[in-house]
Amino acid sequence: MSPDLPLNLADFEAAARERLSPQAWAYFSGAAADEHTLAANRSDWAAHRLLPRVLRPLSGSSTAINMGGLTLAHPIFLAPVACQRMAHPEGERATAMAAAAQGAGMILSSQSSVAVEAVAAAMAEPGAGPLWFQLYWQAQREATLALVRRAEAAGCQTLVLTVDAPVHGVRDRERRAGFEIPPGISAVHLAGLPPPPDSLTALLAAAPSWDDVAWLRQQTRLPLWLKGVLHADDARQAADSGCVDGLIISNHGGRTLDSTVSTAWALPRVAEALNGRLPLIVDGGIRRGTDVLKALALGAHAVAVGRPQVFALADDGAMGVARMLRLLRDEFAIALALCGCRSPDDVSRALLA
Ligand code: FNR
Ligand code: LAC
Repeated sequence: MSPDLPLNLADFEAAARERLSPQAWAYFSGAAADEHTLAANRSDWAAHRLLPRVLRPLSGSSTAINMGGLTLAHPIFLAPVACQRMAHPEGERATAMAAAAQGAGMILSSQSSVAVEAVAAAMAEPGAGPLWFQLYWQAQREATLALVRRAEAAGCQTLVLTVDAPVHGVRDRERRAGFEIPPGISAVHLAGLPPPPDSLTALLAAAPSWDDVAWLRQQTRLPLWLKGVLHADDARQAADSGCVDGLIISNHGGRTLDSTVSTAWALPRVAEALNGRLPLIVDGGIRRGTDVLKALALGAHAVAVGRPQVFALADDGAMGVARMLRLLRDEFAIALALCGCRSPDDVSRALLA
């Protein structure tokens, strides 16, 4: 084994930085404004201290989880990340092959640069995790519905409506780098749909509301999750609405509103408010097996990783993403054992100081 193989998720980030153009690097690694939220997402996981137990029985241990009727080999999902062909020519297809090989759930962005049908084909493997589809609300309901029907027809198992980005964040790093999507790469699902309104006023007028969530619920039999919830009251409203099957606690990796609370801060508050009424996934700054464990201890059923998948993709295509997932899974298994837990079911708040 070569000593310079990536040994952890940070190594993939360093490798990607060498490979990506300055523009693509700014897009994938950057966040909004001063990037306070980006930094807080990392530092707030790190700030939690574990209080492990010893001499507990560990034989027959497993990383498998049960979430809303779904059994998964481990609690790690790939968060939706747009336009992955900017990281590697195979883009989301390569990412999907890696997810399938590692039994990870993949949440495909509605701004994917590879069609959902091709991604679904790449995930049609024994032992593959589920393929979910992330929805950006479109200015017209018919256009949103067209995306829903396409995701359903491709066999996606859950819809994830992103609710924290009615407008693009203030992306200083992207603007400074002169970022534009390169020719030949595009958000393929949006071709043929009406383009988003170009004025802020029109964009805000078309932004989704709780009424639209209720409407969407009526249109599909697929489970419907919301992504981008931070406030406990929004989480309660989602549960009370009866329209929502789960929540992704997320601040979009710090890319929309800068200086929000970190997801490590929001998660336990949402979990307490919901008291188990909805399953929770958390994303933002998850880079270590101990971060996964801490997320579960704070009330998440599973986690999602955003940037690490495109960094690994840029570094080594499907092999890179598979290795990234394997490293994080293995770190999580080690963290579980070193905390005296036989499985994710044994993880509780009592493991945090
Ligand atoms: C994203 N994210 C995102 N979210 C979403 O709902 N739809 C999308 O199309 C995208 N696109 C996207 C592109 C890029 C380059 C990044 C980095 C992120 C947000 C993503 O799903 C997730 O919330 C964060 O990336 C999680 O934080 P980490 O793991 O990147 O720290
Ligand atoms: C982003 C959008 C695509 O974060 O969600 O770049």
